[in-house]
Amino acid sequence: MKRLFLIAVPWFAFVLMGVALAEDTEATFKLPTGTITLEAPQDAEYKATLSPVNFPHSLHFSYSCQACHHNWDGNGPIKSCGTSGCHENFWVPKPDQADVPENGVKSMVGAFHQACRDCHRKEADQQKAAGSKSIATGPVACAGCHPDPHSQIENSDTALSIPLGVINIEAPEGVEATRGSVGFPHGLHFQFACKSCHHDWDGESEVEACSSCHSEPEPSGTRNIKDEANQMYYLAAYHNACVTCHRDTDKKRKAAMAQGNIDKADLPKAAPVNCKGCHRSS
Ligand code: HEC
Ligand code: HEC
Ligand code: HEC
Ligand code: HEC
Ligand code: HEC
Ligand code: HEC
Ligand code: HEC
Repeated sequence: MKRLFLIAVPWFAFVLMGVALAEDTEATFKLPTGTITLEAPQDAEYKATLSPVNFPHSLHFSYSCQACHHNWDGNGPIKSCGTSGCHENFWVPKPDQADVPENGVKSMVGAFHQACRDCHRKEADQQKAAGSKSIATGPVACAGCHPDPHSQIENSDTALSIPLGVINIEAPEGVEATRGSVGFPHGLHFQFACKSCHHDWDGESEVEACSSCHSEPEPSGTRNIKDEANQMYYLAAYHNACVTCHRDTDKKRKAAMAQGNIDKADLPKAAPVNCKGCHRSS
């Protein structure tokens, strides 16, 4: 299985066409793409009875990373599921024993079966209920994940470098900016699926900067950023993505607050909607 290393890369690795980017912080992490093989630890006393599971990691990037890496804060390294203190027991040996040991943490096999299979089942149910004819979900039957005969180990050993810290977003060259640049805390947004912003990304290839497509320095339609003719105008893309979601978040937060009796920690997090909340004073 792959391990995560936090590595520092110089920010100039991220200089792009159009909107210039600078990394305020230099941390990146390696995101394994392609397939990861999940198997019983080789050194354990446990002797695997079934085939290891070839898990297509990238096929799951339409979900928030936290749908699986539920303890990740978006900034530190991602720990493997079997890290000490987590699902460190591969298997709870006796079949009559409950799957949850004293410390309350499920065994690795229990955690995988619950996380993987329950979601595949839920997806199938939801899509059926929504009346879709072709169901796109993962396997629920044993042999779908543990093929018989034994599957080949498939570790793609491919990874992408993902910036973690604050990305500085500036207007494209030639635009006389009226506002300061925007400090965008990338990792704080990993609670959302990558594709909710990188809407053209396939989960495998290099991630293209928004500005490599949304590169027009001026509106080509009206001044209205909702005008379809303005889709490639950089300001329309950013404000329609960033400000729209922040307004929705703000609405949800206010609605939750209006209900009262809600713990402050349980409120949806505040996302800036004021100009100064995003644009630095220039
Ligand atoms: C459907 C579940 C699922 C989703 C969604 C998912 N991952 Fe994973 N990821 C896994 C599993 C399972 C492993 C293998 C874990 C292990 O080795 O214990 C893994 C491994 C990793 C690793 C290597 C960890 C290590 O052990 O070194 C990184 C880094 C990682 N994922 C990042 C991400 C990021 C970033 C996202 C969001 C784009 C994401 N993952 C989405 C399930 C998922
Ligand atoms: C949050 C929901 C979710 C979780 C958690 C999840 N999956 Fe999936 N999985 C899916 C969906 C949806 C698909 C279908 C994706 C597609 O076809 O685009 C899928 C596809 C797959 C496939 C590919 C099937 C094929 O036809 O190629 C495999 C294998 C798979 N998942 C294994 C796993 C394993 C192993 C885990 C746990 C480590 C896991 N999944 C966790 C939702 C999930
Ligand atoms: C959605 C994927 C998925 C499905 C479906 C699934 N498993 Fe697993 N299973 C896993 C993963 C992931 C592991 C941990 C990696 C490994 O050991 O292969 C695992 C581990 C195991 C293990 C411990 C390792 C071994 O080979 O002895 C057993 C036993 C097991 N599963 C039995 C089953 C049985 C029986 C079914 C059907 C009732 C089933 N699994 C269905 C994903 C799945
Ligand atoms: C809330 C929106 C949003 C989310 C969610 C998001 N990103 Fe980004 N990402 C951006 C923006 C904005 C940039 C800055 C580059 C730009 O303006 O195009 C960026 C930059 C990047 C870059 C550097 C691209 C380059 O210019 O070389 C990578 C790689 C990347 N993101 C990957 C990811 C991955 C993987 C995820 C999911 C874990 C993710 N992003 C989640 C908005 C987002
Ligand atoms: C490969 C080119 C490409 C990349 C990269 C890209 N976009 Fe787009 N984007 C498009 C195209 C083409 C459309 C219009 C058609 C569509 O919806 O796909 C669009 C539509 C949009 C829309 C809806 C139209 C609007 O103006 O409201 C938003 C918002 C948006 N993109 C934001 C982003 C953001 C933010 C990023 C980076 C995180 C990004 N895009 C990256 C090509 C791209
Ligand atoms: C899908 C929804 C969504 C999108 C798209 C989005 N944000 Fe956010 N943003 C949030 C949420 C939610 C928070 C609060 C997160 C938290 O505090 O954990 C946030 C927080 C922030 C913060 C405040 C950080 C702090 O320290 O308080 C800034 C700045 C920010 N976003 C900028 C941007 C920019 C710039 C973009 C567009 C490139 C963007 N966001 C796109 C939802 C979004
Ligand atoms: C959620 C974050 C966010 C908020 C809130 C926000 N913007 Fe922006 N804005 C951006 C991003 C990202 C860009 C693209 C980078 C840049 O040009 O600075 C941008 C670009 C601009 C530009 C074009 C570049 C320039 O400086 O002339 C203008 C004008 C602008 N914003 C005005 C505003 C005004 C006025 C407000 C308040 C009503 C506002 N923005 C609120 C994120 C935001």
